[in-house]
Amino acid sequence: MHPKLHRFSPPFLLFTLFVCSNALPSLLPMDVGVELFDPTLPPVAPTQTPKCSIQVLQHEFSAADCNSFATTSNYTQPDECPAPWTRVVLEVSLAASGGHKDRVAAVSINGAEILRSSTPLTIGSKAYWKVQKDVTRYTSLLSELEYGGKIAMIVQNNTNSAPSGVLAANVTLHFYRGPLMGEKVTGPTIAKLGGRPAVKGLYHEPADLIIPISRGNNYNEDDINDDSISTSASRNAFWFHVNDESDSHGSSVTIPRNTYRAILEIFASYHGDDKQWYGNPLQESTIGSSNSNGGLRQIYATIDGKYIGSRIPFAVIYPGSVNPYYWTPVTAIGSFDLPSYDLEITPLLNLLLDGQSHEIAVGVKGGRNFWLLSGNLHLWIDRFSDAVTSGIISYSAPPLKVTRHAEWGTLDGSSEVDAEGLMKLVGWVSSSKGNLTTMVRQKVTFKSQVEVQNRGAVTQVEMINKERMEVWVHKGNLVVGRVQVFMEAPLQVQTSRVLAAGGAIFEKGKLYHQLSEVVNLNMNGVVTTSTMTDRQDAEGSVLMHDGTPVWGSGSTRSTYQLRDENTCYLRTVNTLGGIVKDDISSPSCDTVADA
Ligand SMILES: *[C@@H]1O[C@H](CO)[C@@H](O)[C@H](O)[C@H]1NC(C)=O
Ligand SMILES: *[C@@H]1O[C@H](CO)[C@@H](O)[C@H](O)[C@H]1NC(C)=O
Ligand SMILES: *[C@@H]1O[C@H](CO)[C@@H](O)[C@H](O)[C@H]1NC(C)=O
Ligand SMILES: *[C@@H]1O[C@H](CO)[C@@H](O)[C@H](O)[C@H]1NC(C)=O
Repeated sequence: MHPKLHRFSPPFLLFTLFVCSNALPSLLPMDVGVELFDPTLPPVAPTQTPKCSIQVLQHEFSAADCNSFATTSNYTQPDECPAPWTRVVLEVSLAASGGHKDRVAAVSINGAEILRSSTPLTIGSKAYWKVQKDVTRYTSLLSELEYGGKIAMIVQNNTNSAPSGVLAANVTLHFYRGPLMGEKVTGPTIAKLGGRPAVKGLYHEPADLIIPISRGNNYNEDDINDDSISTSASRNAFWFHVNDESDSHGSSVTIPRNTYRAILEIFASYHGDDKQWYGNPLQESTIGSSNSNGGLRQIYATIDGKYIGSRIPFAVIYPGSVNPYYWTPVTAIGSFDLPSYDLEITPLLNLLLDGQSHEIAVGVKGGRNFWLLSGNLHLWIDRFSDAVTSGIISYSAPPLKVTRHAEWGTLDGSSEVDAEGLMKLVGWVSSSKGNLTTMVRQKVTFKSQVEVQNRGAVTQVEMINKERMEVWVHKGNLVVGRVQVFMEAPLQVQTSRVLAAGGAIFEKGKLYHQLSEVVNLNMNGVVTTSTMTDRQDAEGSVLMHDGTPVWGSGSTRSTYQLRDENTCYLRTVNTLGGIVKDDISSPSCDTVADA
């Protein structure tokens, strides 16, 4: 660990930082423009030149589009760039000028989402950044574009503040054919591409068909009569606006009767009252605010009202959250490419295979106003059968066991929410591949603690989410495939506040968060293990005036490590006062980067 970044250093150290960084007048250096980045893997794309790179969308989101604005293009895949592709990379290049308080953005193809992103906080300065994502997983959507389709980008403000600047965006798709250089073609279970690490174990081959669980492509017309949309903010977007935990939204889908495998992917972002749900205390009423139901959220899905699974979301910290000075020029884990959540629903395919239409819905347990959700139903089709047969062998999906404890005085107190759960689904599908039984087992342990001390001046938030997800595929007694994913996501945020002149609030604090995943994959007897750890330690101070940061400083240390049987990649980035101090990467993990 960096010697200057002990997790719990005494307050005087923070104060020293505050004094030392007095020379920094604004959030970002004026006029020059700052390039922001997510310090993960730099070689996001294979090293060879793509077969074709196509700019599919270019738009300037002006201040007048502040509330919510979608731009679409009618796009037809050119003949000289036909499917299939070995790899497709989405690149969104953005430039912000003027004030933007972190906004939420997304890219979709024919109403199916392929990227959810949040934008940095900028105040009177320019910022540039790029989001690159491996979208090979969405090959079937991209293939639909051969006959023409709709590519859309939507940008919406996150809070009740209108941006004053312009956000310029270019969306480009890079298509690769042939063997990929700079990575192995088979083997690694964690994507070596894409700014965000993603567990690819379950997706060794892209789905044959993707059905959006969203408001679809015709949102503008549909929404006029949709009373469930309370704000105009979501009226022209493909995503569902989820108001609270009693609110869920879905789409009616009819799937091909020869589907042999299904995964439901859910995209989610949180806004309004739930923008920082991970720091939400559990309070009866004593301190009395709307932030009172604790820090546990579950994104869940149903088929015709029957619960089919859930995930506790990773707490992505938006660039304007906690202390915005932590997040320049590095952005917080996952903030440019928000993780999506996969539910393997193959064991329950029987619920969908009757050729009838069924309602697949998504919602957020514990959620408050408001969340933006959408889903993609990834389906694998048996081309050698007209219909497959299937059955559910066992379904055990009890709600999480949650214990809640809170003790609050007038100004101080503490609360804790603990949860654990075990879900197990088993079902068979008999197709031309044989009679395969799929078992999904998910074990979750979660803890969220919030402590307020010193007459409300000091807040400490701790959270840890651990999940063990296993998918086993059997043919008779033989195991033909197995994926085990161990995920761990700890978070600690410490903040102390003092009242400053003119009603401003001076806050200093510290933060530690991490996302680590170990993926163990067995495909026809070949076993591979991959590990990914993405960690950030930050500390600094900020002066808030009317809820807006007017001055501050932060230092952030980001460490990213990706390891599998053959390779180990390590990158360490240290930033201070908006400037990169060190950016050290090692393709072998040999150099212990500690500057
Ligand atoms: C896309 O096509 C539709 C109908 O084919 C048309 O109404 C719409 O204006 C087109 N949009 C753009 C951006 O060209
Ligand atoms: C978008 O592309 C145009 C050229 O096609 C370029 O002039 C502009 O700077 C790009 N904008 C961004 C934000 O990358
Ligand atoms: C965005 O800002 C506008 C203008 O301040 C406000 O009316 C709207 O409710 C905000 N949208 C969201 C989603 O908070
Ligand atoms: C497939 O296997 C399951 C359990 O192993 C069995 O109950 C089912 O009848 C089999 N289906 C077919 C079509 O053979």
